[in-house]
Amino acid sequence: MKLIDGKETAARVKEEIAAEIARRAAEGKKTPHLVALLVGNDPASETYVAAKVKACQLVGMKSTELRFPADATAEQLIETIDRLNSDDDVDGYIIQLPLPPHLPADDLLGRVDPAKDVDGFHPFNVGKMMLGLPAHLPATPAGILELLHRHRVETAGRHCVIVGRSNIVGTPLAVLMSRKSPRANCTVTLCHGATPDLKTFTLQADILVVAIGVPRFITPDMVKQGAVVIDVGVHRVPAPTKSGYRLVGDVDFENVAPRCSAITPVPGGVGPMTIASLLRNTLEAAR
Ligand code: GUN
Repeated sequence: MKLIDGKETAARVKEEIAAEIARRAAEGKKTPHLVALLVGNDPASETYVAAKVKACQLVGMKSTELRFPADATAEQLIETIDRLNSDDDVDGYIIQLPLPPHLPADDLLGRVDPAKDVDGFHPFNVGKMMLGLPAHLPATPAGILELLHRHRVETAGRHCVIVGRSNIVGTPLAVLMSRKSPRANCTVTLCHGATPDLKTFTLQADILVVAIGVPRFITPDMVKQGAVVIDVGVHRVPAPTKSGYRLVGDVDFENVAPRCSAITPVPGGVGPMTIASLLRNTLEAAR
């Protein structure tokens, strides 16, 4: 069993991004600038945004965190979105999800300038991705493709089974993995919470990607011997550690890993690649 080390791979991607930012600076070009909007105090969102800001600092990218209270109004956010759209210093920005339920997430995401939509969540970018046209790709699916490519996981003609149909991960990943491209070209099955007898499908997977949001959901009896398993989940579970918790994924790692030819750990698998892809999108937006 090979561990697919996303932390190490993301570090290499970030080195490449840092080198290009330094090259651009030497040519007198502006420093790319990423802005993150964070509404409320969701602990996971706080952690993710802090990690994104830290990664920007590491590669020499400018970053700004804009914080709003949990009861912020749609008007306040619209005003900020409009300002960011017309601010030439801002190359890209993200609205950290989930938003509090009183806010119209789809309307707000649809107001982001598609050129600055480095999360790839705007319908214009989603549509271009669907058609295989150049667009900002959502960071987690893009990070997974990069991880598979850099770890030389054969994809062409293989069966990729995805568990979870979110707009952020499962659905765009199904589109990207089925593309006629050297980095994809899979036969794809997209499973979800209403799939009956899920195991029938997961057992067929050469590449199994799990983004269902349930801790340790995938057990060894659901995985084919020799499969490649990509775990997108991140959950805090109580544990006798200093913090009182530890992180686990959607896959029962300890018991599933021995069956796999390769598997991503949690933490240190997909998460760091998501951040690296966001930085890459921001650099591309600046270009
Ligand atoms: N929440 C969970 N994943 C993401 C992501 O990739 N981008 C944003 N903006 N919010 C998220």
